Amino acid sequence: FTEAFIESRDFKTELSASAASAFVAEGFDASVGRVNASDRPDLADFQCNGALAVAKAAKANPREVAAKIASHFDGDTRLDKLEIAGPGFLNFTLSHGALSDRANALASDPRIGAPKVAQRRKVMIDFGGPNVAKEMHIGHLRTAVIGESLKRTLRFLGDEVIGDAHFGDWGLQMGQLIVGLSEEQPDLPYFDAGFTGPYPAESPVTLADLGRIYPKSSARIKAKDADFLAAARKATKELQDGRPGYRALWQHFVVVSREALKRDYAALGVEFDLWYGESDADPYVEPMIADLKAKGLLVEDNGAQVVHVARPGETRKKKLDDGSVVEVPSPPPLLAVSSEGSAMYGTTDVATIVQRQKEFGPDLSLYIVDQRQAEHFEQVFRTAYLAGYAQEGQLEHAANGTVNGPDGTPFKTRDGGTLKLGDLISQAVEKANARLHEAGLGEGLSEDAFADTAHKVAVAALKFAELSNHRLTNYIFDLDRFMSFEGKTGPYLLYQAVRMKSILRKAGEQGLAAGLIAVAEPAERELVLLLDGFDNALKETYLKRAPNILADHVYRLAQGFSKFYAACPVLVGEDAALKASRLGLVSLTLRQLELGLDLMGLSAPDQM
Ligand code: ARG
Repeated sequence: FTEAFIESRDFKTELSASAASAFVAEGFDASVGRVNASDRPDLADFQCNGALAVAKAAKANPREVAAKIASHFDGDTRLDKLEIAGPGFLNFTLSHGALSDRANALASDPRIGAPKVAQRRKVMIDFGGPNVAKEMHIGHLRTAVIGESLKRTLRFLGDEVIGDAHFGDWGLQMGQLIVGLSEEQPDLPYFDAGFTGPYPAESPVTLADLGRIYPKSSARIKAKDADFLAAARKATKELQDGRPGYRALWQHFVVVSREALKRDYAALGVEFDLWYGESDADPYVEPMIADLKAKGLLVEDNGAQVVHVARPGETRKKKLDDGSVVEVPSPPPLLAVSSEGSAMYGTTDVATIVQRQKEFGPDLSLYIVDQRQAEHFEQVFRTAYLAGYAQEGQLEHAANGTVNGPDGTPFKTRDGGTLKLGDLISQAVEKANARLHEAGLGEGLSEDAFADTAHKVAVAALKFAELSNHRLTNYIFDLDRFMSFEGKTGPYLLYQAVRMKSILRKAGEQGLAAGLIAVAEPAERELVLLLDGFDNALKETYLKRAPNILADHVYRLAQGFSKFYAACPVLVGEDAALKASRLGLVSLTLRQLELGLDLMGLSAPDQM
């Protein structure tokens, strides 16, 4: 854990290290020295249960073991007291001085306590995964929001990160669009077998056209329209083989879709370093297929070419159409070349690994994609490992769950359709407007500033709802709840940040400035302990690829501030040093809160 990072300065890690050496000095294992936040914050700040863990095996009295460990802390100025409680818990209470020192150290740290990786890695994050012709829906929100947050966090902690949209611009859906369009507009020159140009810059289709043709053609395939399917497959193959008219059309599809998708992402504050598509892996497909063949990994299967990825004995039962049950390999083989000779989704994914290896050489590739594609990635990763395109452990599917409706199944609109991301964002902005008015907020703002605030509140509501759940948790979409200014929501975080900004603004107007922090009150102690926990929260977020840990930290920090502000007046009274100290604490808290928000892809307005 710690080896991945340069150093740890938070109390939990420091006290754990001290306790571990005390246990070692007394002849016990270092691992029992783990110190955690106290279960009873009213009694102590941290606790260690190690004495209880070792006493039994050592046939010793746990309280006596605890006393021996405690003696190693004699004279430790970090501690106000170290008590042995109950059957042998060690209860640590930090001194005001140690907390003040920590607060001042954080205040003078440009990283505000954020850790740094020991070894800078190159990390590829494959997220978003939008597709040509398909407007994004709520499911795309998850991968976009989680991916964006991980991209920012890993980068801030020191890795070199490349975010790639891995645009779905290849495969059967392209053939579907070509055939669908040829039925609507058969006279377009692109459909002439002998088409060689010219290539008009103007697209013959809009996104709305594609959005109409695509679902129609999918429905026909679902309904087993064999002629249509055969035509779509043929067109796909011809496109992949380079038929000029199809290539030209496809280029239009890509451009029209990508521009619209980029608008939606921009509204959400999601950005990619690369907009590579599945098609960009195409030049790698042929040599890769040849290589797989040369390595003996490609196997003929009913006219198709597959790669067997299951290890001996890895099987599952499968029920056949006639009702009989057979054992089949699990995971099933990767379909590398279809019987028409086309590259498939898995093929382009493996070829993309080859491409990324050649162009970037990432140490790690994270795929932020729906859990329902777990088997696909298992097939792809295993193929890549078997062929030596990546080393075991370099490819990782950081899966996400689904966004559900109140009935617990993937969210649908009232008419049973999927809610488009663009519409969702406008709905959220509308609701944010209404909420701000209801709460009497933003009244003094100019129209532009109000609109900016409403947009920030809307984005915070959507993104934080996402990030506050573990990425694998399925959660229920409830815009009303997400948009509340109370509770664990994005708007609550922004509201607290705005309160801090307004305190600092008022202080400035009164000529007051932040100064040295001297911790005294319980609410101040609590706030500094929270600030101190940032280091650990970020490490765990990093190691578990779990932004919900960061989200939780930021939320608790905002709560800690609110409690502090209720208990400790900042701008009143005659004591200049006290005011400067409290302003110092507000300023430090705001900086860490804003950094945390930024790593989640949120930003707080200046006023509300
Ligand atoms: N476009 C795909 C979909 O909508 C997701 C792509 C995920 N990334 C990948 N490398 N396969 O299902």
